[in-house]
Amino acid sequence: MKSNFFEINQTTTGKARAGTITTDHGTIQTPIFMPVGTVASVKTVHQRELKDDIKAQIILGNTYHLNLRPKMEIMQAAGGLHKFMNWDLPILTDSGGYQVFSLSKSRKLNEAGVKFKSHIDGSTHFISPEISMEIQRQIGADIFMAFDECTPYPCEYNLAKKSMEMTHRWLKRCIKWTEENPEMYGYQQKLFPIVQGSTYSDLRKKSAEFISEQNAAGNAIGGLSVGEPEDEMYRITDEVTDILPKDKPRYLMGVGTPWNILETIGLGIDMMDCVMPTRNARNAMLFTWQGVMNMKNKKWESDFSPLDEFGTSYVDSDYSKAYVRHLFVAKEYLGKQIASVHNLAFYLDLVRVARQHILAGDFYEWKESIVPTLKQRL
Ligand code: GUN
Repeated sequence: MKSNFFEINQTTTGKARAGTITTDHGTIQTPIFMPVGTVASVKTVHQRELKDDIKAQIILGNTYHLNLRPKMEIMQAAGGLHKFMNWDLPILTDSGGYQVFSLSKSRKLNEAGVKFKSHIDGSTHFISPEISMEIQRQIGADIFMAFDECTPYPCEYNLAKKSMEMTHRWLKRCIKWTEENPEMYGYQQKLFPIVQGSTYSDLRKKSAEFISEQNAAGNAIGGLSVGEPEDEMYRITDEVTDILPKDKPRYLMGVGTPWNILETIGLGIDMMDCVMPTRNARNAMLFTWQGVMNMKNKKWESDFSPLDEFGTSYVDSDYSKAYVRHLFVAKEYLGKQIASVHNLAFYLDLVRVARQHILAGDFYEWKESIVPTLKQRL
């Protein structure tokens, strides 16, 4: 199956696939994990490290945060986010709604949009589907997200239904605005709509059908990894990927652990993002091919072996476990930096190896054999 934007390189007996996304800032080999760079910064990590060592192929930015700081005048004066942060590979932006719900203390939502108070200085702001589209045009992401409402878990059926229907109406407004307003920086920007519907199969089915009908370049699944059991997340992902078009990339938003990533690749997901590798790194949690390490643990105190002998990053061979433990115990910033580089390099290695197994035809056997090891506590 071929389109200019997404090409499938290999399918499997199950739903996993390997593909290539082509943007004006370069290609992305899928399945791919996208590091989160909320405020024009993947926390503690240099752009050079992201590109050359971690081998990130696309990163995320957030409409909510960037609109509050540095604000769009600065973003436009810089010529967009790529130039502002000196990142010339693809960028995806989230639309703002999800962040308003998770960060702003005071918010009022209605059909028009969301009025909220900034988590930075308490000032009042308003984002509508149209405003979100305009901000994402100004940021200049290669892929930008529809303005949606993400329901909490659990969510009563009627509320989930009402919210999903509004997300669908908002999507129509996003599409209309996007069609009427051209790109600002001379390169293409692709809008991805978002499937909602909480944990209700009939709502998810309806939403996935509605989203598929819009014929967007790619599609996303939202409203998951919000506290529901893992099995529920897998069940909904499976039901939705059965409906979303096969020839478009599918993006599972906000997921997850290394094993979540492999399981959902197995369910036909091509793109994921999560703050987990960077946030947990700052709390001394390292993900590795052998399992999960807490670097504050006394057991590493005099372990002078490399941080991760199977790791692909320079930090894995340059530093010892004992040294990194010391940095965390001494509350040195460098500990957080090393752990963030390690975790992101591991996540990118994880999806790269997953892709190799899809291409080789043994993805599911490999996944079954590796997942219990990934979950081990070292
Ligand atoms: N990030 C994680 N989940 C979601 C979601 O449901 N919607 C949006 N816009 N972003 C998300």
